[in-house]
Amino acid sequence: MKFLMVCLGNICRSPIAHGLLKHKAEQLGLNWEIDSAGTSGYHQGELPDRQAIECMKKHGIDITYQRSRPFSKRDFAAFDVIYCMDRNNYWDVRSLAENETEEQKVMMILNEVNAGSDSNVPDPYYGGKEDFEMVYAMLDKATDAIVTRYNPTH
Ligand code: 4NP
Repeated sequence: MKFLMVCLGNICRSPIAHGLLKHKAEQLGLNWEIDSAGTSGYHQGELPDRQAIECMKKHGIDITYQRSRPFSKRDFAAFDVIYCMDRNNYWDVRSLAENETEEQKVMMILNEVNAGSDSNVPDPYYGGKEDFEMVYAMLDKATDAIVTRYNPTH
């Protein structure tokens, strides 16, 4: 399976989701491809936000291999599922889809935890440590649900 995590800047939320799912897939020996992207190119080429790196490090996961990149229309073909962190990201990506197959790949990540809730992962960019911890906790649950849903040996 190939999963793409998407937020606005690709430096806070989607790098945490990307790092969590990659870590879990590796621990389970799953041959999954995981990447992340931003609906903007504001931070292209940059490392994840310092607080995102710190938060993940505290939980034993290194995300310093990641670099921000903008979402590309080519990502529709390259990935099986595209998880968006909030409704803006969702509609920004959905509006680039050219057919139903592409549209159906675009999901709200928290719907894996609460089906149909369409709830946002709040943007922690202007926040502090607690905000990143809350995002981590939400995405930890969501990535557990993704593993349960797609792990063939489950
Ligand atoms: P992210 O957070 O979308 O979770 O990576 C943000 C990062 C940067 C900006 C906004 C949100 N920005 O406007 O630069």
